[in-house]
Amino acid sequence: MELSVKKVTHVDNLRLSDDGRSVVIIDQTQLPNRTIYLTLSSVEEMFEAIQQLKVRGAPAIGICAGYCLSCLAKQIPAPDTAGFLSELAKQRDTLNSSRPTAVNLSWALNRVYQAAAENQPLPREALLDRVQQEAVKIHEEDIAMCRAISEYGLSLIHEGDGILTHCNAGPLATSRYGTALGPLFLGKEQGMQFRVFADETRPLLQGARLTSYELYHAGIDVTLICDNMASLVMKNGWVQACFVGCDRVAANGDTANKIGTSGVAILAHYYGIPFYVLGPTSTIDRSCKTGENIQIELRDPDEIKTKFYQEPMAPAGVKCYNPAFDVTDHSLITAIVTEKGICHAPYQESIATLFS
Ligand code: MRU
Repeated sequence: MELSVKKVTHVDNLRLSDDGRSVVIIDQTQLPNRTIYLTLSSVEEMFEAIQQLKVRGAPAIGICAGYCLSCLAKQIPAPDTAGFLSELAKQRDTLNSSRPTAVNLSWALNRVYQAAAENQPLPREALLDRVQQEAVKIHEEDIAMCRAISEYGLSLIHEGDGILTHCNAGPLATSRYGTALGPLFLGKEQGMQFRVFADETRPLLQGARLTSYELYHAGIDVTLICDNMASLVMKNGWVQACFVGCDRVAANGDTANKIGTSGVAILAHYYGIPFYVLGPTSTIDRSCKTGENIQIELRDPDEIKTKFYQEPMAPAGVKCYNPAFDVTDHSLITAIVTEKGICHAPYQESIATLFS
């Protein structure tokens, strides 16, 4: 994995290299202290980057994986069509096994693979071009989707509001603007004033390391809180709405997002605060009937016990449970904001209408 360090002026979280043979990402695990760019060329480096959260956030994982598969297609010597496709399917499946919960990963990989499968009659160079175009299209579409989500989301914010967010659903997690943070960046551009509370988001601190970093540098009034402070901040009357992203939305509106999200939704319900989920339609998985069908990623216990600490903060042998996501019941969600519009309950119907 090639490594370079530079100062960022514009957050360009991921892109295809100029020769189209590798993917360049910001290593999000190094933020906010270091801005390090990694160049991913092999399937092992790509798998590791996604699995270790160097690139993370559902839409960004999808965009990155699409680019990765397009680069890997160029490395396949493939003497014949069937050989090429079966090798590409193998690479797709390897990348797809890096993280199970965000549906954008399989969604983007399948789109890029299909572009190869459907254009088989083309000569090799034209076929590879077509595959790359599909990956670029996924990225371009995400930019447009984030912008539309930001506009719909902004219609839910009033001047002076306090907004609470969990994890990171900003530009680093997507392409530009972000989903849950998109309305805040757009509102700031339009001169609106509001105050944001960012949950630190244990155990990997995406809220502290990434959300507060993005908002602070954009000049947005952001206050970082520990996850267990959300209840008090709501009780104080400082929060008028919660905005969160999503990793997979089931057909009935149940939503998987970063661990701790469902707790925020339960608190918001208790205090009568609207709880909004923002995400592109690519994060809706209609093949999942309910949240029960969503696979939740379990991660290394050391992320809780040792990561970010100078010395272990628990006995080495103690049992640890480290689910990366939880599912918020649809009954706790005030609305789901997509690029195609805002869905309200009953979600089974409003989501189906989005796709009709
Ligand atoms: O484990 P992560 O950091 O990839 O989890 C990210 C989240 O849960 C985000 O809220 C979600 O992917 C939406 S990003 C626009």
